[in-house]
Amino acid sequence: MSAIINPRTLSLAASSSSLGSGSSGVVDQAAHLRSLMKARARATVIAITSGKGGVGKSNIAVNLAVTFAAAGKEVVLLDADLGLANADVLCNMDLPFNLSHVIARKKEVRDVLYKAPGGFRLIGGASGLARMADLSEFDRQRLVNSLVELEKNADIILIDTGAGISPNVLSFTRAADDVLVVTTPEPTAITDAYAMVKVISKDKQARRVSLLVNQAHNATEAAQVYERIATVAKKFLNLNVLDAGHVVSDSEVPLAVRKRTPFVIGSPRCHASHCVAQLAMRLAEGVSVQPDSGGFFNRMSRWFFKG
Ligand SMILES: Nc1ncnc2c1ncn2[C@@H]1O[C@H](COP(=O)(O)OP(=O)(O)OP(=O)(O)O)[C@@H](O)[C@H]1O
Ligand SMILES: [Mg+2]
Repeated sequence: MSAIINPRTLSLAASSSSLGSGSSGVVDQAAHLRSLMKARARATVIAITSGKGGVGKSNIAVNLAVTFAAAGKEVVLLDADLGLANADVLCNMDLPFNLSHVIARKKEVRDVLYKAPGGFRLIGGASGLARMADLSEFDRQRLVNSLVELEKNADIILIDTGAGISPNVLSFTRAADDVLVVTTPEPTAITDAYAMVKVISKDKQARRVSLLVNQAHNATEAAQVYERIATVAKKFLNLNVLDAGHVVSDSEVPLAVRKRTPFVIGSPRCHASHCVAQLAMRLAEGVSVQPDSGGFFNRMSRWFFKG
């Protein structure tokens, strides 16, 4: 079992004095991140998901991708939202081809990888396409098979799954090494995050589940949200939900969206950027750990075809 986030990492990250300390802090963070990550045989796959929509998954995914890439890692961000994809918009990219062309058999996955700001590679999703669950089994298998090569040529694969409990989303959470469930402190988002955690917990193949509280006012509020979900998950699902920390509500985030520039690039010293750096460090130790079985897309492939 891989260990993207563990309590030891969390306490290390939380106690790091280099966090949030101006420009030298940013340099320190990149160096620290690099030192946490070692070479590995295949990519670690992190699915970023949520129950409720609009909680910040795509912003977290894009800015996390930039942060890992800045630490020298080969990062692929797969925008797996086949309904309302928008990672390309956040990066101000006009992608000629995306996953819909792969599904339509006009392109291979390697043909739809594009260099994004900050140096990561983006595979765009598609807007208005039928859900993956509606695709034929043949098409899904072809997509999954073609993605296997990604694992060999990347250190980290981040998947923005899109929101909600659907076969499409669950196919990715099911097969990832780690699932990062994003919520905000709003009661509706918390309720939906728990519903997502519950569905994931039923899955024997599910990997570690961690919770990220986005748009938090402060660490105390985020900790309360985490405790609430973690306590109920432990009591009723017997599931340990790990604490991935929080990203504060920061006016730089919507500004960056309007500028179509990831905030860790446009405003590297803003509070949200520091939070994403901390999140990356919390994830980083696990990135150097070899997952247990045959690769993400092979697992995913097995899941699609299991009786
Ligand atoms: N930390 C933050 N502080 C302030 N605003 C934020 C923050 N995170 C996200 N937002 C805002 O929330 C909105 C939704 O963000 P985003 O598109 O990343 O959510 P999402 O979960 O990917 O949505 P969807 O479920 O539709 O895919 C954006 O307008 C963004 O500016
Ligand atoms: Mg999104």
